[in-house]
Amino acid sequence: MLVRMLFPLTSDARSTTVWLGIWLLALSVVPVQPAIARTPDLAAGQDVYFSICVSCHGPDGHGADTHIPSFIYRERLEKDDVTLRRSIRDGVPDRMPPWGGYLDDDRIADVLAYIRHRFGGGQGRR
Ligand code: HEC
Repeated sequence: MLVRMLFPLTSDARSTTVWLGIWLLALSVVPVQPAIARTPDLAAGQDVYFSICVSCHGPDGHGADTHIPSFIYRERLEKDDVTLRRSIRDGVPDRMPPWGGYLDDDRIADVLAYIRHRFGGGQGRR
């Protein structure tokens, strides 16, 4: 029944093949919708960085003391985005407070993008 609906004019094997071809062609031109990736807002990320993160991670990406990673030396930036976003959201026990209560997922993505953009080039060296 379904086959009859999909291939209305099917009367023999050859036209079935033709219809199948048409369907495959049609399916191949329908674009597969990718998960819509939001472009991070670097300006919003900068605002977050300078209102919350700067006191420990420093205006120029230097950790304020030796226990705090220096982004300017790419410390921790080798970790992937998923891991770092989770650290920012949930904090690091006994080390960094969780920021998930202040920042939603978009803002967390923004501030991480800002950190990578601003400090991720490995400008410093240790
Ligand atoms: C109170 C000080 C403090 C503040 C404020 C702070 N951090 Fe941290 N952060 C730390 C410390 C300490 C670590 C190192 C934790 C560890 O030892 O793994 C850290 C680690 C990190 C890491 C690396 C996490 C990992 O998985 O290795 C990222 C990314 C980070 N902070 C981002 C931020 C962002 C973004 C903000 C602002 C929203 C922020 N931090 C605010 C102290 C702070």
